Amino acid sequence: MLECAQILLFIFFSRLTRAGGFPYSWPMNSLAIELNDILSGTAAGRLLSETGRRLFFPRGIIAQSAEAGRRAGRFNATVGMSYENGRPMTLPSLMGLFPGFTAHEAVNYAPVGGDPQLRELWKAEMLVKNPGLSGLEFSLPLVTPGLTAGLSLTAELFVNPGDTFIIPDAYWDNYELIFREAKDANFVTFPFFDEEGHINCAGLKEAVMKNSRGGKAVIMLNFPNNPLGYSPSSFESTSLARCIAECADAGTDILVIIDDAYFGLFFDENVARQSFFASLANLHERVLAVKIDGATKEDFVWGFRIAFLTYASKGLSKEHYAALVTKTTAAIRVSFSSSSRIAQSALVKLMTNPSYPVEKEEKLAILKRRYLKVKEILSSRTAGAALRELPFNSGYFMSFLCEGISAEDLRKRLLDKGIGTIALQDRILRIAYQSIDEEGLADMYAALFASADELAGR
Ligand SMILES: Cc1ncc(COP(=O)(O)O)c(C=O)c1O
Repeated sequence: MLECAQILLFIFFSRLTRAGGFPYSWPMNSLAIELNDILSGTAAGRLLSETGRRLFFPRGIIAQSAEAGRRAGRFNATVGMSYENGRPMTLPSLMGLFPGFTAHEAVNYAPVGGDPQLRELWKAEMLVKNPGLSGLEFSLPLVTPGLTAGLSLTAELFVNPGDTFIIPDAYWDNYELIFREAKDANFVTFPFFDEEGHINCAGLKEAVMKNSRGGKAVIMLNFPNNPLGYSPSSFESTSLARCIAECADAGTDILVIIDDAYFGLFFDENVARQSFFASLANLHERVLAVKIDGATKEDFVWGFRIAFLTYASKGLSKEHYAALVTKTTAAIRVSFSSSSRIAQSALVKLMTNPSYPVEKEEKLAILKRRYLKVKEILSSRTAGAALRELPFNSGYFMSFLCEGISAEDLRKRLLDKGIGTIALQDRILRIAYQSIDEEGLADMYAALFASADELAGR
């Protein structure tokens, strides 16, 4: 009878533990405690989730094989890989597909945190793209298998159930799955634009002030935005940063996640050229910024699955960053283990090729022409009055607010005409115009306006 009661109590408490409503039953590892001690007294330390606090990088197989890599000159029997004549064993037909790659570059495991050369190259590029970061301390970017993985890792490390997650009301729908459904965050939105058509800094501030629970808030910002294709001007960046600093001054620890998936696709003169991450890197001791960016869109390699995760916060030292990076490396180890080796090797070759910046400029010029073409089509249109275009200046997308017609009905009608678009909340129609060659844009928009008129009975 007593045993039965003990078993029931055990099941009850282990359920609570898994639901996050009760501390973990397993004592915290001393390596995790060491990392937490290093981070204690910083916003980064206070912002960690329960899981984030428990993570540490074990001195197990990975650490021992790294040590053997440096010292085991005779026989290295540490890694779960097969070798032949000192090289990873490969199938010749596969290697024939990649003539410029050694077996090591093609099929070896990459380090958990990513290829060190690629990480350094990405950091150097970040400084070129964001001169405001120069002279500031920030972490060496970690490689993640795509931006999505970087977002999930951030959620794992920093979001507890019930934590407040604040986001402007136009966002990539995957954030809902990652932060609300998977992490049970308290998902709070505010209108993206204020009444003057600027990014709604006051709305952001109000949302943080009203909702930050336990002195903690997570803010998610994505520029150029999906679905709007909007990025802040320098003025808007400065105002946003000021609002976030004011929230921090009021005593809230804030994690700001910057999703820079479409970074660099800036087409309007007024758009701030630097990432908003640069405005946050030295803003306030209570603000930790995490920049999630990647080769995915910036280098036109969507299926490579290579992105980067970088931290910055005022006052953090090299030792603090090392502790944060160790915890994040542990989060990679428990989920994806490491990112694609061949994709990382290819990016190192690409980024060290003198043609790299030239080729990128050429492609960006094509995207800019498409942007200008869409602006021209919109400024001279005489149809589609039910579609109000929302401000856009960058990225892949633009969106229409559907007035008096259903976005979903319009999407279906367009599909019947062989045109694919995305309807959001039945109010917004998102057009990924950067998927269409310039010559096709006029026809596509003409069909779009005609369909909207048909639905509106005009
Ligand atoms: C805003 C935003 N973030 C992240 C991603 C996903 O990036 P990745 O394919 O590298 O996971 C997308 C893809 O559409 C996106 O629109």
